[in-house]
Amino acid sequence: MKPKVFVTRKIPENVLNKMKSVCEVQIWEKEDIPVPRDVLEQQINKVEGIFCLLTDKIDEDLLQRAEKLKVISNMAVGYNNIDVAAATRRGIMVTNTPGVLTETTADLTFALLMATARRLVEASDYLKQGKWRTWSPMLLTGQDIFGATIGIIGMGRIGEAVAKRARGFSMKVLYYNRSRKPNVEEKLGATYVDLQSLLKESDYVCLLTPYTPETHHMIGKEELSLMKKTAILINTSRGGVVDEKALYEALKNGTIWAAGLDVFEQEPIPVDHPLLSLPNVVALPHIGSASLKTRMKMAELTAENMLQALAGKVPKYLVNTELIRA
Ligand code: GLV
Repeated sequence: MKPKVFVTRKIPENVLNKMKSVCEVQIWEKEDIPVPRDVLEQQINKVEGIFCLLTDKIDEDLLQRAEKLKVISNMAVGYNNIDVAAATRRGIMVTNTPGVLTETTADLTFALLMATARRLVEASDYLKQGKWRTWSPMLLTGQDIFGATIGIIGMGRIGEAVAKRARGFSMKVLYYNRSRKPNVEEKLGATYVDLQSLLKESDYVCLLTPYTPETHHMIGKEELSLMKKTAILINTSRGGVVDEKALYEALKNGTIWAAGLDVFEQEPIPVDHPLLSLPNVVALPHIGSASLKTRMKMAELTAENMLQALAGKVPKYLVNTELIRA
């Protein structure tokens, strides 16, 4: 008998077909919105595998209903939407999709950094709104990127890929991470500093850390007050790493110069959110890994992880590795 799996959103046809060849697949594809909680609750105790997205909250309450579930395969590198400890206690594997999205997300991080520094969105709106009357000495002046100092918080795969791009712009690279990365220091000339020094010395502070209880509101009022008045905060990790209320105040009263945000505490961020009223905020709808090729690869890898787990193998990207050590 084919194992039953549930897919929480419409995914590329070829990936779906691959799963259908070995599994009995149910899919939530009515609309491009997250699967309603009650549907998820009904499905979870029927299936052995779930192919889910970062918009699906897989918490302990839900997992209590999961009688046959063997694997939760998340189509994302981040997995803060899943209660991994609760899954581990039940022997359920959790998988993610690192690697395939590294360069694409680093590209977006750098694009957002440059767009914010040089006020690209504001400048484009200015032109389209018919406000451009003449070349003017101080019109839409921004911050320099070449030769500036970048502070990377979270030196994982994506952090390293951002550092590589920064070196191409002759930037001084500082980083803060749970552990030191001697190979990155050697290869990319990055300097390890404590968080306070990074905040004080950087022209660009880039958040690339996973979202955990330890990193919740890691950047708040106090941290923002340490940054330069000309500094720019870039967040392409998870919204909860930043205290958005404190960020709004800091941007409004000039504590820092601007912010480029791809992620928010609440997604989608409400359009009347105060942050969106500020001209010095460039805001994107969580598109860090959104290139055609990368999203295809992520879907393929999510399916691959799931099929490996269902076949009794160790999936390529198992998050709760303690399950195989046990
Ligand atoms: C996207 O945010 C991801 O975690 O893959």
